[in-house]
Amino acid sequence: MSDLVRTEKDVRRAVAAARGQGKSVGLVPTMGALHEGHLAVFERARQECGYVVASIFVNPTQFPPGTDFETYPRDLESDVKRAQSAGVDLVFSPSVEEMYPPGDRTFVEVTGPLVECLCGPHRPGHFRGLTTVCARLFNIVQPDRAYFGEKDYQQLLIIKQMVRDLHFPLEIIRVATVREPDGLAMSSRNRYLDPREREAARVLSQALFEARDRFTSGERNADSLVDAATRAVAAEPLVSLQYLELRDAATLEELHEVGRPALLAVAAFVGEARLIDNVLLVPR
Ligand code: PAJ
Repeated sequence: MSDLVRTEKDVRRAVAAARGQGKSVGLVPTMGALHEGHLAVFERARQECGYVVASIFVNPTQFPPGTDFETYPRDLESDVKRAQSAGVDLVFSPSVEEMYPPGDRTFVEVTGPLVECLCGPHRPGHFRGLTTVCARLFNIVQPDRAYFGEKDYQQLLIIKQMVRDLHFPLEIIRVATVREPDGLAMSSRNRYLDPREREAARVLSQALFEARDRFTSGERNADSLVDAATRAVAAEPLVSLQYLELRDAATLEELHEVGRPALLAVAAFVGEARLIDNVLLVPR
């Protein structure tokens, strides 16, 4: 049975007890509305850690003004059951006041190229809110390992940068993207899609996969890969493209030729839902 706790104090107590039994500690930060993608991350943590903590917290500081903080799906009761089924030992679901106590004045911000491209310019303050909440979660839980999905690839790189720069004594583990049978990356925001939009959303992963096939067949020119994928997405009227870009998979710098591992990443609105996805292109 997963325990559900609401306060920093209760997390510290539970983690100390697990440590007392010699267990290693894994943390999986989430915003809830759990799906199979989250469960895969929990299961990976379960394999590698003696004690698995999942946080469920819809973090207000990472939602730019006018986005979906208020409407983000929240269903704690069923989330706790799902977490339990995937072997999570402790669910930490704090209030906003617990994570951001009154009088709070500190943000944690990664600067530079990693935050200035892709989602960065489209979601002002988003990554600052992300790193701030993750730094707090890392300090509260003090895990040996924290687990993040490749679906949010830019987020993963930014968290790794923060961990390195602030000397957090933990390892970041990345977990492959889990997809619906038709290729759509699983996301809590897929719940916003009506049936027509859900059908249209397939074009995002399809366009990425087609580009990956062209890459596998020998295409190395960035413009050619990006243009074909962009045209495929543009052909779907219910999808409004925000960006589709190819970048260095380690630094997120622009790439003209895929001579080293590259990230092909897309963000688009499908109705009200802002969806992101990516594939990695790795030359042999
Ligand atoms: P959330 O969107 O709930 O995702 C929680 C974790 O699950 C992230 O590491 C994300 O990359 C991973 N994940 C989501 N969909 C996935 C999929 N289809 N396959 C594999 N992993 C997937 O990302 C966040 O929350 C927040 O930004 C958070 C890190 C919790 C900070 O508030």
